[in-house]
Amino acid sequence: MDAAAPTLDRPAARPAPMIDPFNRAITYLRVSVTDRCDFRCVYCMSEHMAFLPKADLLTLEELDRLCSAFVAKGVRKLRLTGGEPLVRRGIMTLFSSLSRHLQSGSLDEITVTTNGSQLVKYAAELRGYGVERVNVSLDTLDPDKFRAITRWGDLAQVIAGIDAAQAAGLKVKINAVALKGVNEDELADLVSWAHGRGMDITVIEVMPLGDIGEDRLDQYLPLSMVRARLAERFTLDEIDYRTGGPARYVRVRETGGRLGFITPMTHNFCESCNRVRITCTGTLFMCLGQEDAADLRAPLRASESDAALYAAIDEAIARKPKGHDFIIDRRHKRPALSRHMSVTGG
Ligand SMILES: C[S@@+](CC[C@H](N)C(=O)[O-])C[C@H]1O[C@@H](n2cnc3c(N)ncnc32)[C@H](O)[C@@H]1O
Ligand code: SF4
Repeated sequence: MDAAAPTLDRPAARPAPMIDPFNRAITYLRVSVTDRCDFRCVYCMSEHMAFLPKADLLTLEELDRLCSAFVAKGVRKLRLTGGEPLVRRGIMTLFSSLSRHLQSGSLDEITVTTNGSQLVKYAAELRGYGVERVNVSLDTLDPDKFRAITRWGDLAQVIAGIDAAQAAGLKVKINAVALKGVNEDELADLVSWAHGRGMDITVIEVMPLGDIGEDRLDQYLPLSMVRARLAERFTLDEIDYRTGGPARYVRVRETGGRLGFITPMTHNFCESCNRVRITCTGTLFMCLGQEDAADLRAPLRASESDAALYAAIDEAIARKPKGHDFIIDRRHKRPALSRHMSVTGG
């Protein structure tokens, strides 16, 4: 018998994680399951977006096969995102099929990043498929501002979605993008609100991804300024808490809750990067901030065996870049990258 073969009393050994050229273990895969969305957030999309032809998208079965290949290669955490992942038709079948990796112990976690609009419908089902945590993006508690930021969104529907998620036993984290002159006065209230409901909150700097028909300089608010303003109202205690991601956390003494900052523009977090991203067409991006990518759809479709797919994944990880260098300043008003966040998945 093969020495590594599992027996009843000896479970299958964990696959060794993929290691990139900078000695980082790649254990986290973010998957954009659709580039479409029921909102049109001003920092994310232009009002009239051209979406990918449906025929270019991976089917749900292909997405399952792709995710499962990464799990076999040592990925321990999957995040489904988009676009809005929960508007993809039949998406619950993907959560359902991927849940086998949680049951077998091959995967530690499946999470979702969502705008919350479909959570009333899906929260309980998600929990049933083993999802324990969801990130909900919410930049304001003012219904008019919410409509202005998302162009099409309804705040009440999102709040009802958060209620449903918590009622279903999902742990909710709020993500808020800091927008100059839009929600900067409100961020302290948003923190109090989130913590009052037992939710962590992370504030994100606007990143220069995709042409959105507006000037990024008008939106950009450095988090150093956000933090200084929050420190006028709250005592922010440094803590060690890390999720393996780019957020740096503090504990707000007055609320007892956790507050994260994601600062791609003013702070480089690449040295501990453990993640790669797949688009809904099967393109693998080794870095959110770089153009280099690998097509995994062709090897996926070329054969029913996964050998070519594994080889393409290995080859891509071997050229994961060291990091990104986003810049928004007066000389660089164009997006650093032409693709939108909704394509690569936030
Ligand atoms: C692209 S969305 C996809 C998932 C889902 N539709 C949502 O809104 O949560 C993921 C995250 O990216 C953030 N985002 C989108 N465009 C961004 C940008 N240009 N800079 C910073 N964050 C951005 C959103 O606020 C959201 O929290
Ligand atoms: S941030 Fe999320 S909800 Fe807003 S337009 Fe982009 S994908 Fe849609």
